[in-house]
Amino acid sequence: MVKQYESRAPAYGIVARTLHWLTVLLIAAQFVIGWTMPGVHKDTQPVGLIAWHLGVGAALIAVMVLRVVWRLTHRPAPDEALPPLLGVVSGITHFLLYICLLLVPLLGWINASSRGWTVRLAGVVPYPSLSRTGSPFGHAMGDVHGILAWVLFSLIVLHVIAALFHHFVLKDHVLQRMLPNAGSSRDSTHNR
Ligand code: HEM
Ligand code: HEM
Repeated sequence: MVKQYESRAPAYGIVARTLHWLTVLLIAAQFVIGWTMPGVHKDTQPVGLIAWHLGVGAALIAVMVLRVVWRLTHRPAPDEALPPLLGVVSGITHFLLYICLLLVPLLGWINASSRGWTVRLAGVVPYPSLSRTGSPFGHAMGDVHGILAWVLFSLIVLHVIAALFHHFVLKDHVLQRMLPNAGSSRDSTHNR
C-alpha cells in the first residue's frame, strides 16, 4: 500500500519548463543520432548524421549553459509535502542529471576538437577548440563520452519512471509542476 500525501507545491516557472522540455527534445535527438550514426574512426569526416550530432550537440550545449545559469539564479520552491527521504533521493537524481547533462556534451566536444572538427552553433557560430588535433586525451574522452551517455540514459529512465509513479501511483502534483500548461499563477521560482 503506497502512502498518499498531498503535494501542493507551485509550478516551475515558464522559463524553467521551456528549458526542461527543450532539453528533452535535444537529448532524445542526440541519443537517436548517436546510436544510429556510422562508427567514428581515424579518417571519418563530419558529414551526414555525424554533422547532425555535432549540430544538435552545439544547440544542446547552449541550452544547458542557459539552463544552469537560470537554475542557479531561480531556485524552485521546495515541495513541503514531499516525504523527506523522497526529497533527498529526487535532489540527488536531479543533481546527477545536471552533471551528466554537462559532462556528456563537454566530452563529445573535446573529442570533436581532437579530431580537428569545429563545433558550430546553427552551422555558423564556431565554438573554441577544447583539445589539440590528435590529442590522445581527446581521443580517450570519446570512449568516456559513449559510456557516460549510458549513465545519463539510465538516470533518465529512473527519472521518467519516478515522474510517472508520482502521477499514477502517488497521484500528487509533482508531474503537473513541470508540464507546459502548468498554472503560471502558481509559479514557484524566485530569485535567490
Ligand atoms: C547529451 C548529449 C549527447 C548524447 C546523449 C550523445 C550520445 C552519443 C552516442 C550514443 C555516441 C556513440 C558512442 C559509441 O558508439 O560508442 C556518441 C558519439 C559521439 N558524440 Fe555524442 N552525444 C551527446 C552530445 C555530443 C556533443 C555535444 C558532441 C560535440 C559537440 C558530441 C560528439 C560526439 C562525437 C565526436 C562522437 C564520436 C566519439 C567516438 O566514437 O570517439 N556528442 N555520442
Ligand atoms: C531527456 C530527458 C529528461 C531530462 C534530461 C530531464 C531532466 C530534468 C532535470 C535536470 C530536472 C530538475 C529540474 C530542476 O529542479 O532544476 C527535471 C525535473 C523534472 N522532470 Fe525531467 N527530464 C527529462 C525528461 C522528463 C520526462 C519525460 C518527464 C515526464 C514524464 C519529466 C518530468 C519532470 C518533472 C515532473 C520534474 C520536476 C520534479 C520535481 O519537482 O521534483 N522529465 N528533469
